[in-house]
Amino acid sequence: MVEIIDATNPLKGKYKVPGDKSISHRAAILSSISEDTVKIFGYSNGKDCLSTLDCMEKLGVHIDWNQNPDDVLTIEGKSLYLYEPYDVLDANNSGTTTRLLLGVLSGQEFFSCITGDDSLRARPMKRVVEPLTSMGAKFHGRENSNKLPLCCLGRKEKPSKTKYKLPVASAQVKSAILLAGLYCDEEIEVIEPSRTRDHTERMLKAMGVNIDSSKVSETEGARKITMKPAEKLNFSYEIKIPGDFSSAAFLIACTILKEDSNIIVEEVGINPTRTGFLQVLEKMGVKFNIKNERISCNEPIADIEAEYNPTLEACTVEGDLVANVIDELPLFAVLATQAQGTTVLKDAKELRYKETDRIKAITSELTKMGANISEKEDGFIVKGPTPLKGERVKSFDDHRIAMALSVAAKISTGKTYIENPECADISFPGFYQYFK
Ligand code: S3P
Repeated sequence: MVEIIDATNPLKGKYKVPGDKSISHRAAILSSISEDTVKIFGYSNGKDCLSTLDCMEKLGVHIDWNQNPDDVLTIEGKSLYLYEPYDVLDANNSGTTTRLLLGVLSGQEFFSCITGDDSLRARPMKRVVEPLTSMGAKFHGRENSNKLPLCCLGRKEKPSKTKYKLPVASAQVKSAILLAGLYCDEEIEVIEPSRTRDHTERMLKAMGVNIDSSKVSETEGARKITMKPAEKLNFSYEIKIPGDFSSAAFLIACTILKEDSNIIVEEVGINPTRTGFLQVLEKMGVKFNIKNERISCNEPIADIEAEYNPTLEACTVEGDLVANVIDELPLFAVLATQAQGTTVLKDAKELRYKETDRIKAITSELTKMGANISEKEDGFIVKGPTPLKGERVKSFDDHRIAMALSVAAKISTGKTYIENPECADISFPGFYQYFK
């Protein structure tokens, strides 16, 4: 399929985006291993989150939902111990499903096997397999257990380690270790080099787990998380998933770039470990408003108001900020094409290990559209502003690349043809309707 986008209407009015993908995964997994029947409102109907539900059902969890985010999803918790799956678990395109589930599977005394689509089977898993092996689980998989399909035989041996220092900043790896830690006999400690999204910690705390996090040093973003094992998990409240900030970011960026646009995105999660994109916008001289700030289910939410900004300033994004804006970096490249001066992204090599190599993908496709962008090992350099022109471009089956290119298409002359656009359904079903 090809999606054709041209620079027609500005964005105006009030919008709501699908439920947060990261929080939805965690809500499904943690409800499944709780003692309770949990009601979840606003669960994301993005394909990744459906993959998590499918895997949990194969692990014996009863789930009731009609895939309509306006309707309640009910999960009957099985307590910490699940059932041996009768079939291979298929995470499809979802790295979060795979890595978080591997954490839970490590604590189960049964055999399981997990696989995914072409993109997921190419992504590195050693980063979770290594710490989970030292926690007592056994894995067998392709390329010396770095790639899916991976088979797991849950914890039979006592952990040889209870302190983990993560070599890369990754919320998925941190969460996998914390989930496996629920099944350990001793307190565990995880040190992350930069602060990453903390939805797992927030949800575990709300479920009565003894978990704390503190800064390692005053000057760097590194954090230490300590957690005591849990005997049982209880959800004493209904979960309401906020709108996904990473999805809202596409609408906000499009509004900033497109003349006459002015929008409010309502009920969006503004967890500070997720909103680095707002700091980037400030660096670029963009004004926006955060309204109606409130807390819901231990997560901060708000309405975000944005409008067209005729001038953008170039800036540098590097260091601890990168982990905070990781999913918005392809979109940042699009904004940078319209900024005055030289924009630099550094310290973002992790982008090469996402659904596709996002540094390569965004550089090649924006170049086709007329941008002055060059690829670096750990980021990119963009010189702007440059006018963009409609072209035939590839999504590389990566939702964030497809949506970032759609935003570029909105400010290009002529029509843009996006190949394999349907991958946007991974996190943002209905995305193209907003653009037409
Ligand atoms: C996620 C963590 C990030 C992010 C991904 C979702 C999560 O990945 O890019 O979209 O929900 O934990 P890494 O942990 O690989 O950085």
